[in-house]
Amino acid sequence: MRVGIGLDFGTTNSSIAIARPDRSSEAVLFASGEGKTETYRSVLYFEPKSPATTGPLAIERYLAADEKGRLIQSLKSFLASRLFTSTNVFGRQYTLEDLITIILRDLRTQAEAQSGLMAGSSDAPIVVGRPVRYSNANSAEDNEFALSRLKKAIEKAGIGPVVFEFEPVAAAYFYESTLDHDELIMIGDFGGGTSDFSLLRVGPSARRDREPDTELHRQWQRQTRARTDPTRRLQFSLEQTLSRSCRDRRWEHRCPRRSLRLSLRDSARAPSR
Ligand SMILES: Nc1ncnc2c1ncn2[C@@H]1O[C@H](COP(=O)(O)OP(=O)(O)OP(=O)(O)O)[C@@H](O)[C@H]1O
Ligand SMILES: [Mg+2]
Repeated sequence: MRVGIGLDFGTTNSSIAIARPDRSSEAVLFASGEGKTETYRSVLYFEPKSPATTGPLAIERYLAADEKGRLIQSLKSFLASRLFTSTNVFGRQYTLEDLITIILRDLRTQAEAQSGLMAGSSDAPIVVGRPVRYSNANSAEDNEFALSRLKKAIEKAGIGPVVFEFEPVAAAYFYESTLDHDELIMIGDFGGGTSDFSLLRVGPSARRDREPDTELHRQWQRQTRARTDPTRRLQFSLEQTLSRSCRDRRWEHRCPRRSLRLSLRDSARAPSR
Protein backbone atom coordinates (compact mmCIF):
# COMPACT_ATOMS: atom_id res chain seq x y z
CA MET A 1 0.00 0.00 0.00
CA ARG A 2 1.10 3.53 -0.66
CA VAL A 3 2.49 6.02 1.79
CA GLY A 4 1.45 9.65 1.82
CA ILE A 5 3.74 12.66 1.92
CA GLY A 6 2.63 15.98 3.42
CA LEU A 7 4.46 19.18 2.58
CA ASP A 8 3.94 22.36 4.56
CA PHE A 9 5.67 25.17 2.68
CA GLY A 10 5.42 27.97 5.22
CA THR A 11 6.23 31.66 5.18
CA THR A 12 8.71 31.20 8.02
CA ASN A 13 9.16 27.44 8.41
CA SER A 14 8.57 24.41 6.23
CA SER A 15 8.26 20.76 7.10
CA ILE A 16 7.56 17.41 5.50
CA ALA A 17 5.84 14.40 7.05
CA ILE A 18 5.53 10.87 5.80
CA ALA A 19 2.37 8.92 6.67
CA ARG A 20 2.51 5.14 6.56
CA PRO A 21 -0.39 2.79 5.84
CA ASP A 22 -0.39 1.69 9.52
CA ARG A 23 -1.29 5.33 10.36
CA SER A 24 2.09 6.05 11.86
CA SER A 25 3.86 9.18 10.66
CA GLU A 26 7.30 10.64 10.83
CA ALA A 27 8.75 14.06 10.20
CA VAL A 28 11.61 14.38 7.75
CA LEU A 29 14.78 15.55 9.47
CA PHE A 30 16.82 18.22 7.76
CA ALA A 31 20.54 18.89 7.98
CA SER A 32 21.62 21.77 10.16
CA GLY A 33 24.90 22.76 11.79
CA GLU A 34 23.58 21.52 15.14
CA GLY A 35 22.46 18.12 13.90
CA LYS A 36 19.08 17.26 12.42
CA THR A 37 15.95 19.39 12.68
CA GLU A 38 12.28 18.91 11.73
CA THR A 39 11.92 22.63 11.13
CA TYR A 40 13.28 23.96 7.90
CA ARG A 41 13.52 27.75 7.72
CA SER A 42 12.02 28.85 4.40
CA VAL A 43 14.96 31.09 3.53
CA LEU A 44 17.56 31.45 0.82
CA TYR A 45 21.03 32.88 1.18
CA PHE A 46 23.11 34.07 -1.75
CA GLU A 47 26.77 34.98 -1.86
CA PRO A 48 28.55 36.15 -5.01
CA LYS A 49 29.82 33.30 -7.22
CA SER A 50 28.43 30.56 -4.93
CA PRO A 51 25.35 28.41 -5.30
CA ALA A 52 22.46 29.48 -3.04
CA THR A 53 22.14 27.83 0.35
CA THR A 54 18.71 27.12 1.82
CA GLY A 55 16.97 26.33 5.09
CA PRO A 56 18.84 26.02 8.40
CA LEU A 57 22.21 25.98 6.65
CA ALA A 58 21.42 29.28 4.95
CA ILE A 59 20.81 30.96 8.32
CA GLU A 60 24.04 29.53 9.70
CA ARG A 61 26.07 30.60 6.70
CA TYR A 62 24.54 34.08 6.83
CA LEU A 63 25.38 34.45 10.54
CA ALA A 64 28.93 33.19 10.04
CA ALA A 65 29.71 35.48 7.07
CA ASP A 66 31.87 38.51 7.71
CA GLU A 67 30.66 40.16 4.56
CA LYS A 68 26.95 39.50 4.39
CA GLY A 69 25.43 38.27 1.14
CA ARG A 70 21.71 38.43 0.41
CA LEU A 71 19.24 36.67 2.71
CA ILE A 72 15.78 36.23 1.19
CA GLN A 73 12.85 35.23 3.38
CA SER A 74 9.03 35.15 3.56
CA LEU A 75 8.77 34.28 -0.15
CA LYS A 76 5.34 32.72 0.32
CA SER A 77 3.87 36.07 1.35
CA PHE A 78 4.69 37.47 -2.13
CA LEU A 79 2.95 34.71 -4.08
CA ALA A 80 -0.26 36.72 -4.47
CA SER A 81 1.49 39.98 -5.25
CA ARG A 82 1.60 40.92 -8.91
CA LEU A 83 4.22 43.53 -8.04
CA PHE A 84 6.88 40.91 -7.33
CA THR A 85 7.70 39.03 -10.48
CA SER A 86 11.50 38.79 -10.29
CA THR A 87 14.60 40.13 -8.60
CA ASN A 88 18.25 40.45 -9.48
CA VAL A 89 20.68 38.64 -7.20
CA PHE A 90 24.37 39.28 -7.83
CA GLY A 91 23.80 39.82 -11.54
CA ARG A 92 21.34 37.00 -12.15
CA GLN A 93 17.61 37.45 -12.56
CA TYR A 94 15.34 35.11 -10.57
CA THR A 95 11.56 34.95 -10.78
CA LEU A 96 9.65 34.37 -7.55
CA GLU A 97 8.94 30.84 -8.77
CA ASP A 98 12.68 30.27 -9.35
CA LEU A 99 13.47 31.28 -5.78
CA ILE A 100 10.75 29.08 -4.29
CA THR A 101 11.87 26.24 -6.57
CA ILE A 102 15.35 26.30 -5.00
CA ILE A 103 13.83 25.81 -1.53
CA LEU A 104 11.36 23.15 -2.65
CA ARG A 105 14.00 21.22 -4.57
CA ASP A 106 16.18 21.01 -1.47
CA LEU A 107 13.19 19.94 0.66
CA ARG A 108 12.35 17.25 -1.88
CA THR A 109 15.93 16.01 -2.20
CA GLN A 110 16.38 15.66 1.56
CA ALA A 111 12.96 14.02 2.00
CA GLU A 112 13.65 11.53 -0.77
CA ALA A 113 17.12 10.71 0.53
CA GLN A 114 15.71 10.00 3.98
CA SER A 115 12.65 8.04 2.95
CA GLY A 116 13.72 6.39 -0.29
CA LEU A 117 10.45 7.62 -1.81
CA MET A 118 9.85 9.73 -4.89
CA ALA A 119 7.70 12.69 -3.87
CA GLY A 120 4.57 12.81 -5.99
CA SER A 121 5.03 9.42 -7.61
CA SER A 122 2.10 7.00 -7.69
CA ASP A 123 3.66 5.15 -4.72
CA ALA A 124 4.06 8.32 -2.70
CA PRO A 125 1.34 10.86 -3.47
CA ILE A 126 1.89 14.26 -1.97
CA VAL A 127 -0.46 16.72 -0.27
CA VAL A 128 0.62 20.35 -0.04
CA GLY A 129 -0.90 22.78 2.42
CA ARG A 130 -2.26 26.13 1.32
CA PRO A 131 -3.74 29.01 3.28
CA VAL A 132 -7.44 29.71 2.87
CA ARG A 133 -6.38 33.12 1.60
CA TYR A 134 -2.84 34.05 0.72
CA SER A 135 -1.39 37.12 2.38
CA ASN A 136 -1.75 40.15 0.12
CA ALA A 137 -4.53 38.44 -1.86
CA ASN A 138 -7.47 40.80 -2.28
CA SER A 139 -9.64 38.64 -4.49
CA ALA A 140 -10.29 35.08 -5.60
CA GLU A 141 -8.17 35.84 -8.69
CA ASP A 142 -5.23 36.84 -6.50
CA ASN A 143 -5.56 33.55 -4.61
CA GLU A 144 -5.62 31.59 -7.86
CA PHE A 145 -2.64 33.57 -9.10
CA ALA A 146 -0.71 32.71 -5.91
CA LEU A 147 -1.62 29.05 -6.21
CA SER A 148 -0.64 28.90 -9.88
CA ARG A 149 2.79 30.34 -9.06
CA LEU A 150 3.26 27.82 -6.26
CA LYS A 151 2.21 25.01 -8.62
CA LYS A 152 4.82 26.17 -11.13
CA ALA A 153 7.54 26.14 -8.47
CA ILE A 154 6.47 22.69 -7.27
CA GLU A 155 6.67 21.36 -10.80
CA LYS A 156 10.06 22.95 -11.45
CA ALA A 157 11.33 21.42 -8.20
CA GLY A 158 10.62 17.98 -9.66
CA ILE A 159 7.74 17.17 -7.35
CA GLY A 160 5.05 15.07 -9.03
CA PRO A 161 1.38 15.99 -9.23
CA VAL A 162 0.12 17.29 -5.90
CA VAL A 163 -3.17 17.66 -4.07
CA PHE A 164 -3.66 20.91 -2.18
CA GLU A 165 -5.36 21.01 1.19
CA PHE A 166 -6.32 24.03 3.28
CA GLU A 167 -3.84 24.44 6.15
CA PRO A 168 -6.53 24.70 8.88
CA VAL A 169 -8.20 21.54 7.55
CA ALA A 170 -4.89 19.72 7.92
CA ALA A 171 -4.65 20.96 11.52
CA ALA A 172 -8.24 19.84 12.17
CA TYR A 173 -7.52 16.45 10.68
CA PHE A 174 -4.72 15.93 13.18
CA TYR A 175 -6.92 16.95 16.11
CA GLU A 176 -9.74 14.77 14.86
CA SER A 177 -7.49 11.71 14.92
CA THR A 178 -7.43 12.02 18.74
CA LEU A 179 -11.24 12.16 19.12
CA ASP A 180 -13.72 9.42 20.00
CA HIS A 181 -16.73 11.78 19.82
CA ASP A 182 -18.04 14.53 17.54
CA GLU A 183 -17.07 18.14 18.14
CA LEU A 184 -17.51 21.52 16.51
CA ILE A 185 -14.13 23.16 16.84
CA MET A 186 -12.49 26.42 15.95
CA ILE A 187 -9.01 26.07 14.48
CA GLY A 188 -6.68 29.03 14.82
CA ASP A 189 -3.71 28.68 12.50
CA PHE A 190 -1.30 31.45 13.46
CA GLY A 191 1.24 31.53 10.66
CA GLY A 192 4.06 33.83 9.69
CA GLY A 193 2.08 35.21 6.74
CA THR A 194 -1.58 34.45 7.35
CA SER A 195 -3.77 33.56 10.31
CA ASP A 196 -6.78 31.43 9.48
CA PHE A 197 -9.73 30.90 11.79
CA SER A 198 -12.12 28.15 10.80
CA LEU A 199 -15.06 26.33 12.29
CA LEU A 200 -15.09 22.63 11.49
CA ARG A 201 -17.16 19.63 12.48
CA VAL A 202 -14.85 16.77 13.37
CA GLY A 203 -15.10 13.38 15.00
CA PRO A 204 -16.20 9.85 14.17
CA SER A 205 -19.32 10.92 12.19
CA ALA A 206 -17.42 13.29 9.95
CA ARG A 207 -14.64 10.73 9.56
CA ARG A 208 -17.11 7.99 8.64
CA ASP A 209 -18.75 10.23 6.05
CA ARG A 210 -15.60 10.73 4.09
CA GLU A 211 -13.67 7.48 4.46
CA PRO A 212 -15.47 4.73 2.57
CA ASP A 213 -12.76 2.17 3.23
CA THR A 214 -9.11 1.89 4.02
CA GLU A 215 -7.90 2.33 0.44
CA LEU A 216 -5.95 5.56 0.30
CA HIS A 217 -6.69 6.10 -3.37
CA ARG A 218 -10.45 5.93 -2.72
CA GLN A 219 -10.10 8.73 -0.20
CA TRP A 220 -8.20 10.72 -2.75
CA GLN A 221 -10.88 10.18 -5.36
CA ARG A 222 -13.50 11.45 -2.92
CA GLN A 223 -11.28 14.38 -2.10
CA THR A 224 -10.97 15.32 -5.76
CA ARG A 225 -14.74 15.03 -6.28
CA ALA A 226 -15.34 17.06 -3.16
CA ARG A 227 -13.30 19.89 -4.59
CA THR A 228 -15.32 20.13 -7.76
CA ASP A 229 -18.83 19.81 -6.35
CA PRO A 230 -19.89 22.68 -4.08
CA THR A 231 -22.39 20.69 -2.02
CA ARG A 232 -20.08 17.75 -1.48
CA ARG A 233 -17.25 20.11 -0.76
CA LEU A 234 -19.25 21.52 2.13
CA GLN A 235 -20.04 18.04 3.36
CA PHE A 236 -16.56 16.63 2.88
CA SER A 237 -14.43 19.47 3.99
CA LEU A 238 -16.81 20.31 6.76
CA GLU A 239 -17.07 24.03 7.19
CA GLN A 240 -13.82 24.87 5.47
CA THR A 241 -15.60 27.27 3.15
CA LEU A 242 -16.50 29.27 6.25
CA SER A 243 -12.88 29.92 6.98
CA ARG A 244 -11.81 33.49 7.21
CA SER A 245 -8.27 34.62 6.86
CA CYS A 246 -6.93 37.66 8.64
CA ARG A 247 -4.83 39.24 5.97
CA ASP A 248 -4.66 42.72 7.29
CA ARG A 249 -2.53 43.05 10.42
CA ARG A 250 -4.56 46.13 11.47
CA TRP A 251 -7.60 43.90 11.96
CA GLU A 252 -5.78 40.86 13.27
CA HIS A 253 -7.02 41.33 16.85
CA ARG A 254 -10.62 41.33 15.60
CA CYS A 255 -10.38 38.26 13.45
CA PRO A 256 -11.30 35.48 15.86
CA ARG A 257 -14.59 37.11 16.94
CA ARG A 258 -15.47 38.26 13.47
CA SER A 259 -14.77 34.87 11.93
CA LEU A 260 -16.77 33.08 14.56
CA ARG A 261 -19.79 35.29 14.00
CA LEU A 262 -19.60 34.91 10.22
CA SER A 263 -19.03 31.19 10.44
CA LEU A 264 -21.95 30.57 12.78
CA ARG A 265 -24.27 32.58 10.59
CA ASP A 266 -23.13 30.74 7.46
CA SER A 267 -23.18 27.45 9.30
CA ALA A 268 -26.92 27.75 9.77
CA ARG A 269 -27.30 27.80 6.00
CA ALA A 270 -25.06 24.82 5.36
CA PRO A 271 -26.87 21.66 4.25
CA SER A 272 -27.03 19.10 7.03
CA ARG A 273 -25.23 15.84 6.57
N1 LIG B 1 8.92 27.93 18.75
C1 LIG B 1 8.58 29.18 18.47
N2 LIG B 1 8.72 30.18 19.37
C2 LIG B 1 8.38 31.45 19.09
N3 LIG B 1 7.87 31.83 17.90
C3 LIG B 1 7.71 30.90 16.98
C4 LIG B 1 8.04 29.53 17.20
N4 LIG B 1 7.75 28.84 16.09
C5 LIG B 1 7.25 29.73 15.22
N5 LIG B 1 7.23 30.96 15.76
C6 LIG B 1 6.74 32.19 15.10
O1 LIG B 1 5.38 32.00 14.87
C7 LIG B 1 5.01 32.50 13.59
C8 LIG B 1 4.37 31.40 12.81
O2 LIG B 1 5.34 30.37 12.56
P1 LIG B 1 4.95 29.18 11.62
O3 LIG B 1 6.16 28.33 11.44
O4 LIG B 1 3.72 28.55 12.12
O5 LIG B 1 4.64 30.01 10.30
P2 LIG B 1 4.54 29.46 8.84
O6 LIG B 1 3.85 28.15 8.84
O7 LIG B 1 5.88 29.50 8.23
O8 LIG B 1 3.64 30.58 8.18
P3 LIG B 1 2.33 30.44 7.23
O9 LIG B 1 1.57 29.26 7.73
O10 LIG B 1 1.63 31.74 7.40
O11 LIG B 1 2.86 30.26 5.86
C9 LIG B 1 6.28 33.03 12.95
O12 LIG B 1 6.30 34.44 13.06
C10 LIG B 1 7.39 32.38 13.74
O13 LIG B 1 8.53 33.20 13.79
MG1 LIG C 1 1.91 27.47 8.60
